[in-house]
Amino acid sequence: MTARTHTDRPATGATLWTTHLDRDAAVPVSRQLAAALRRSIAEGGICPGAKLPSTRSLAAGLGLARSTVVGVFEQLAAEGFVLARPGSGYYVPIPLAQNQSSAAVNGAAPTSPRLISRAARRLAAFDPPRRGEPRPFEPGYAEIDGRFMTNWKRMASRALSSRSPTQWCYGDPQGEPALRSAIADYLGAARGVRCRPEQIVVTAGTQQGLSLAARVLLDPGDAAWVEDPCYRAAVDILGMAEARIVPIPVDAHGLAVTAVRVGDMPSPRIVYTTPSRQYPLGMAMPLARRAELLGWAESAGAWIVEDDYESEFQHPARMLPSLQGLDRSGRVIYLGTFSKLLFPSLRLGYAVLPEDLVGPFVAARHLDDRQSSALIQTILTDFMLGGHFARHLKRMRALYAERQQFLTERITRRLGGLLKIRPSESGMYLIAWLPEKWSDRSAAAALAAAGVSAVPLSSLVLETPRPPGLVLGYTGHSEAAMVRAVESTADVLNNWSD
Ligand SMILES: Cc1ncc(COP(=O)(O)O)c(C=O)c1O
Repeated sequence: MTARTHTDRPATGATLWTTHLDRDAAVPVSRQLAAALRRSIAEGGICPGAKLPSTRSLAAGLGLARSTVVGVFEQLAAEGFVLARPGSGYYVPIPLAQNQSSAAVNGAAPTSPRLISRAARRLAAFDPPRRGEPRPFEPGYAEIDGRFMTNWKRMASRALSSRSPTQWCYGDPQGEPALRSAIADYLGAARGVRCRPEQIVVTAGTQQGLSLAARVLLDPGDAAWVEDPCYRAAVDILGMAEARIVPIPVDAHGLAVTAVRVGDMPSPRIVYTTPSRQYPLGMAMPLARRAELLGWAESAGAWIVEDDYESEFQHPARMLPSLQGLDRSGRVIYLGTFSKLLFPSLRLGYAVLPEDLVGPFVAARHLDDRQSSALIQTILTDFMLGGHFARHLKRMRALYAERQQFLTERITRRLGGLLKIRPSESGMYLIAWLPEKWSDRSAAAALAAAGVSAVPLSSLVLETPRPPGLVLGYTGHSEAAMVRAVESTADVLNNWSD
């Protein structure tokens, strides 16, 4: 069984609140507190998986300045004794022996603690979702229609009948040249991305693109500015690279870096943003803000990681071109994914890079897992070159817009007094806003018990509070399944007392 760490189990109160600190000793109180914490964690006085008290309350309880406690927690996080979860707090990691030890593999109990790295202790905080059948309104699923299946099967069967060695042997870690060329043509036409195929690295999806970017661009302790609220997987991967996560608020025009007062925040090595459809709030960053962001990044010497995850489903007349296409100083790392454009189990995406980053990205990719499957890349290349990809996107754009309208109408009819949906660009999800004082986490937990999946907006917030809301995906779920789910949602929320 995989242990969960994000319980709200309190750290054993007595161990922390009664820590004896000698103010007259030569050793500073911060070092005394750090030593006491290390001892408690190592001896099991504070349980693995426990959440530590907030820095504010511990500082008040021990009569210390809050900055002293923050400094101690950060020191312990750097040493791997505790895990910092931005927006959530500090946790004691679950040792591998308890989490996924040989016990899980052999069925035998571990006899002695096992030595693991700092990275493994941080990894122990993750409990990756093991998704099965999609439940409405789980976001991130794609629609697979009959026409797609027919064409994909034809391309697959053609690739499988070929004896070309490039499909069956090791290939180019940067990605098959024909696929990179097809991606460059597509991105130029559809997203205004300015690149040559030589600037593209085929990835195993955005997640790997982020991981490569973190490895190539960050040293431990470097500041990474991220949108608040934010795509959680991006924060996690940057945290794994030991970046200092700095949440930057989002306003009606998206990421607002220039609103941050110079000197208030550590200057960033990278900035992560979703300018064409802010995840999860959904707004697009207007051109003036894009120009401002690029100008600011150039003067700050920061890289911008642009996650362009589902812009293609917006109405073509309103679709803004990518930030990368406006970049004149080679600051933007553009990430895209076929998870949204086709289907997530394909595990293919792309990073479009300034020329000087291509070499390090390709080397990191090669060291990681060599390459994406050449066979699958061939199928995708033929699918794109045969015109099926463009036609599939056109069909999905229309279908997803219909699905959004369908769900909006259904919710408004059955739950209009409770859930508010503001008009937004089409994509793959929407936000349903709850009454102001409600807890979206509690509402999502009650809905989960009724078989309905909704992501509470507060779980994507790092620092700046937002009104309660539920992120609902409307793609990859049939209309009939959505109707049933809206009925269940109405049953749960109409009888709700938060
Ligand atoms: C904001 C955002 N970026 C990227 C992705 C896609 O990630 P991947 O390509 O690794 O499947 C998702 C998927 O849910 C997402 O929500």
